[in-house]
Amino acid sequence: MATGGKLVSNIARRDVLAGLAGTALLPAAAQAGSFPTLAGLLDVPVSPTLDPELRLTRIGIGSCFNQNRDGSLLDVALRSRPDLFLFMGDNVYGDTRSPDLNELIGAYAAALARPDYRRFRAAMPMVAVWDDHDFGLNDAGVTYAWKAATRPLFFDFWNVPADAPRRQGSGINDAFITGPKGARVQVILLDTRSFRDDWTPSPTRGQPGAESYVENPDPSRTILGEAQWQWLEAQLRQPADVRIIVTSYQLVADGHGYECWRLFPHERARFRALVSRTRANGIVLVSGDRHRAGIYRDATGVPYPLHELTSSSINMGWAGEHREEAGPNRIGPSYSANNVGLIRLDWERREIGLDILDAGDRVVLSQGIAMDALRI
Ligand SMILES: [Fe+2]
Repeated sequence: MATGGKLVSNIARRDVLAGLAGTALLPAAAQAGSFPTLAGLLDVPVSPTLDPELRLTRIGIGSCFNQNRDGSLLDVALRSRPDLFLFMGDNVYGDTRSPDLNELIGAYAAALARPDYRRFRAAMPMVAVWDDHDFGLNDAGVTYAWKAATRPLFFDFWNVPADAPRRQGSGINDAFITGPKGARVQVILLDTRSFRDDWTPSPTRGQPGAESYVENPDPSRTILGEAQWQWLEAQLRQPADVRIIVTSYQLVADGHGYECWRLFPHERARFRALVSRTRANGIVLVSGDRHRAGIYRDATGVPYPLHELTSSSINMGWAGEHREEAGPNRIGPSYSANNVGLIRLDWERREIGLDILDAGDRVVLSQGIAMDALRI
């Protein structure tokens, strides 16, 4: 471990689990109504604080980091010199099959035991949302039994202060605005897990377009939940020049039957209607989850085209031959090897650049957008 810590150096995941086993700390705490905490258990590196007066010009994004796999894409992201980095979910793989949550705590411990990961966490300001594998279970949503217990672990791991408003309520959503006048960037972090109703399983599983799930138009089914919808509306009414909205799984992208907003079409329509009603300018969506990267654009039902930059994965990319998927709304090809993303903000030329970087620091996908095109 590069900086030392409360855990023994070079501790292996099984040792972490062995050390926690039998302590009865976790289930006992959960039964008592208080949940396990990483405080005092793991040494979490503190990322630099974002200077609110800094004019952001480079925002890094990434998702799907397996704590036991290669970390070279973290170094690619480091070399791309972001002012801020957004972890978009599946930030560790800690699926929990037992109520003691040892798999998730062990995954967090294994990440923090890695010098490359610690170096990355300490290098720049960073914020996160969770996706299923750090929420706690593959493709899980509102019915996941241990969500109230994995939530404080998420906050501890991401250094969210004990008294932060984000810890109130029952989700992990958050938003902030940073940068000087004329270059204000709003970052909106959505919680797409805690309140999301069950998807409808595909009757033709594996078929392109219906690989796992199919659309369900039942208007009672939600992705964000009513309280988060109300909160999002209030956020979109705040003045900002560019808004980066983080949704762990894809919103604009179509063409596949894995988790995505398309599966609840009324929720995606509600998002578009909200953009229209609030007249919120400057929106760029970013997402992960897919083990595939792509750049997407769609003007359906919105006053200006919605763009989405998907970067996935940091180290869970497909090793075999790239197989393209159907691409409605996608600009150019997708990219399925390991990658990270970069949003470039050129305030003089008033341009936004969306890039996907590969393991060799090469830009493999790129799209420019005129800032002034993202308004009514
Ligand atoms: Fe995921």
